Amino acid sequence: MNQQHQAEHLFYGSFAEEYHLLIRVCPPAAEMSRRVGEFVGHWHRPETQGPLALLELGSGTGITTNILLHNRPDAHILSVDNAPAMLSQAREHLAGPIATGRLEFREIDALGALQSLPAASMDIVASAYTLHNFLCGHRHQVLAEILRVLKPGGLFVNGDRYALDDPAQHLGNIQEEIRGYFRVFLGEMNRPDLLEQWVTHILSDESEEHVMRFTPALDEMAALGFAQPDVPHRDGGNALVTAVKPWR
Ligand SMILES: C[S@@+](CC[C@H](N)C(=O)[O-])C[C@H]1O[C@@H](n2cnc3c(N)ncnc32)[C@H](O)[C@@H]1O
Repeated sequence: MNQQHQAEHLFYGSFAEEYHLLIRVCPPAAEMSRRVGEFVGHWHRPETQGPLALLELGSGTGITTNILLHNRPDAHILSVDNAPAMLSQAREHLAGPIATGRLEFREIDALGALQSLPAASMDIVASAYTLHNFLCGHRHQVLAEILRVLKPGGLFVNGDRYALDDPAQHLGNIQEEIRGYFRVFLGEMNRPDLLEQWVTHILSDESEEHVMRFTPALDEMAALGFAQPDVPHRDGGNALVTAVKPWR
């Protein structure tokens, strides 16, 4: 693995094994997963034949997958992730829906997964806290592929970190987030190893070649051809972004 490749794979070791600590350092994440599920649950698809095909990008440990399953009992979910240490937990947590055939996890890069799917084959593409991890160029390709695999009228919903447009304000938020890491991982848990991993991770997310800034991200989606872009919820650097594939 070359250095850049390795820098793109941050979900391993104790970071992955103790990913449940996310709730301690990023409480809005759980709330956002709930909102993604709720939005998907209330969405009326234009055509009603057959099971609803839902693709989730970034399974993680299955937190959002589980919420999607509960909110869309009519869905067959394909959920993809490229980190074995995250997927093994997701498979363990959601063994039931896997056994019934409602859910399939696949270990693959998000872009590779999309490219392997036929055009207009998915009713919904949903994701939570995954796209911000991508290099900007990779994310652009992923967004273009999401549009390709969605059926006309299909839904894209992403609950994610969207950096504030004002860099100074955004920096203030990130500094506060890092102070929180110190409080939890050093002050409360005495886990310098986790502190190191979380700081390393946020440095990657915030780097110029990854950062997903709010207005440019919405502009990028509009330029690619997504219709009805909307932001039903926004809380600081976290936003729920939705859009559909146009009919034409
Ligand atoms: C912050 S976690 C979020 C997990 C989950 N969506 C949730 O709501 O808890 C991001 C996940 O995206 C996965 N991921 C990051 N880059 C990826 C890529 N290029 N292809 C597939 N999965 C990726 C990571 O392995 C990780 O499990």
